[in-house]
Amino acid sequence: MKSQIKLIRARRIWDSRGRPTVEVDVQLESGVCGRGVAPAGASRGENEAVDLRDGGADFGGLDVRQALSRIHGEIARTLIGRDAMDQPGVDEALVALDGTPNRSRLGGNAMVATSMAVLRAAAAAQDLPLWRYLAAGKPVRLPLPEIQIFGGGAHAGRRVDIQDFLVMPVGADSFSHALEMVSRVYIRAGALMAEKAPLTGVADEGGYWPNFDTNEEALGVLTKAIEGAGYGDGSVMISLDIAASEFHRYGLYRLGLEKTSYDTGDWLELLDRWIGAYPILSIEDPVGERDHEGMASFTQRHGARLQIVGDDYLVTSAARVKAAQAAGACNAVLLKPNQVGTITETYEALQAARAKGWGTVVSARSGETEDTIISDLAVGWDAGQLKVGSFTRSERMAKWNEILRMEDVLGDKAVFAGRSALPEGLRG
Ligand code: PGA
Ligand code: ZN
Repeated sequence: MKSQIKLIRARRIWDSRGRPTVEVDVQLESGVCGRGVAPAGASRGENEAVDLRDGGADFGGLDVRQALSRIHGEIARTLIGRDAMDQPGVDEALVALDGTPNRSRLGGNAMVATSMAVLRAAAAAQDLPLWRYLAAGKPVRLPLPEIQIFGGGAHAGRRVDIQDFLVMPVGADSFSHALEMVSRVYIRAGALMAEKAPLTGVADEGGYWPNFDTNEEALGVLTKAIEGAGYGDGSVMISLDIAASEFHRYGLYRLGLEKTSYDTGDWLELLDRWIGAYPILSIEDPVGERDHEGMASFTQRHGARLQIVGDDYLVTSAARVKAAQAAGACNAVLLKPNQVGTITETYEALQAARAKGWGTVVSARSGETEDTIISDLAVGWDAGQLKVGSFTRSERMAKWNEILRMEDVLGDKAVFAGRSALPEGLRG
């Protein structure tokens, strides 16, 4: 059979933070190949798939020699001879072979890079761009982008506590128009920051290095940048990734920059105030991953007006998405393939979310490479939203630019998701 897996080859490459990561090439009997590369998070959820890293002193303990030998050994033995067109079968075999709940034996990095490589090889076997292969003839939309302007949290030495200050160009009428709008906001924001002090570089995902005296000051500057760029009419809205698990300790939310701490009630009140004062449309991980009551009560309070995204809270798990739906927590899911370990499980989380009218946001990690698979997943699965990081640095821009190519190829048939990508109830 021509689509049988014939050869699997893994190697170490280096990610956007200069850390080792896993790259896998899969070759099929027909000779066509597919490649997968594992991205890496910095603010990871406690329930996500864990990478297999070598430990020790060299390269900060992050080398991936063991993960490579798992791929060349037992993963290759299990997958060679399997049909690459059967992604669920391949992924099920990987999950069974690993045998752990958190993918620690084979390594989430080894599993996801292999799963991605098989998917790319299958698309190549059909001679289709990956997004077209995934769409399988169904209509697709180009995603509403969520683009970071300031970084923070674990991606910027905790210079501010909130991790991502992003914008959503909901009023754009095409994907390329959306990027133009973001570019104008990005330039404005840089000019506003430079008025205060010289710019001092970028955070891990390419956003401006934060130079603020309080977390709220960043919200003020971002709002001013949006207005200054001419989008104060609601056509560009703010999205925050609070990544609250990073500073939720012993039941308290502690903002290091302001040296303040809040119990859940006071924390939700602070968020209420921000939501009232700034043009915020989406908030990710507003509470810590263990604060189930906080997430449900935040959703009850704001779910009719705001997109509430679970990242660390849902870890791309269909089971957690369903549990959150039952508990009335969140109305959107962040989808990161390496958070769960395989392509099939990522798709299952998307389907569970979509079944209840949730928003679905395909997302990069803070450690990325030139690989653009998430652009294909966002379009091919018609996820509606894509979050990649900022509007600088090629490991980010490669993903945005890849969508521009799809838009160009689609021509008149290109449909931009815009507001239709938001959770049901927020689409009008
Ligand atoms: P991470 O951050 O890749 O460091 O986990 C991205 C996010 O929290 O959305
Ligand atoms: Zn997040």
